[in-house]
Amino acid sequence: MIIGSEKDVTDAVLKEYARIKNPRLREIIAALIRHLHGFAREVKLTEEEFQAAIGYIVALGQRTTEAHNEAVLMSGSLGFSTLICLLNNGNRGQTETDANLLGPFWRMNSPRTKNGDTIVRSPTPGAALFVDARFKDTAGKPIAGAEVDVWHSSTEGFYENQDPIQADMNLRGKFTTDADGRIGFRSVKPAGYPIPIDGPVGALLRAAGRHNMRPAHLHFLAYKPGFKTLISQIYDPEDKNIETDVQFGVTRHLIGHYVKHNQARAGAPDVKAPWYSIEHTFVMEKGAARLPKPPITGKAEGERPQIPHLEAV
Ligand SMILES: [Fe+2]
Repeated sequence: MIIGSEKDVTDAVLKEYARIKNPRLREIIAALIRHLHGFAREVKLTEEEFQAAIGYIVALGQRTTEAHNEAVLMSGSLGFSTLICLLNNGNRGQTETDANLLGPFWRMNSPRTKNGDTIVRSPTPGAALFVDARFKDTAGKPIAGAEVDVWHSSTEGFYENQDPIQADMNLRGKFTTDADGRIGFRSVKPAGYPIPIDGPVGALLRAAGRHNMRPAHLHFLAYKPGFKTLISQIYDPEDKNIETDVQFGVTRHLIGHYVKHNQARAGAPDVKAPWYSIEHTFVMEKGAARLPKPPITGKAEGERPQIPHLEAV
């Protein structure tokens, strides 16, 4: 089709890609073309703005390395990752869900740890935290024998892989749910942390006057054949950034029920008050048990990273 004017372009392009044989890919590409062209028409995109947009997309790729994925960070910063998560979990968005973002810091092969043990593997400052997590199916029946990875940042806001001062696999563990579908472990209460702002994500945050912090959270990944692998995070309601997560990960359902204890813990003289406990029941949906591709494979060496903080304005 020869194009006569601006009005002809979308139809000409749609017609060519209607030849895609795979029906799902055909549907996706057609909608992409309609929305992309519609977007340019709606905002009357100028040539300079178009060149800037291409520059952003190129920079997303150029900033991405084995240890950092700027495209995922941008998707999170635009709320797109959470939208995809909520559209695809909780009975396709019909009910509350424990599903949440994987984030960039899951590692394969966390050390197997017995229920009740600690995941603090090198001296780590912070208040003691006791976590009690239960895993159930959608009918409320406990799921025994699920493998559950847990991981979180230190009180200083670093995952061990970022931080040469922490032992390998500090604040990480792999647990197996017992007959009641439970795991439990001891750790330290984590802190929130900044996301990197030296690429296009940083430029977007500065333009919007947003800060670059994620509120404190615990990560969980539960795996058992017959169930959709559950990737979750439990957030700390006391974190000052709980309402303004830079990655839009916080959902009401995943705000943790932390209990602060000001007395000594019975039978645990080494636990100093105040200490914290938290309980959460996770629901796993039926589906395919698949593990994601690990976003990182190793541990940093040398100095602790310096990730600047942006103040919200
Ligand atoms: Fe995280």
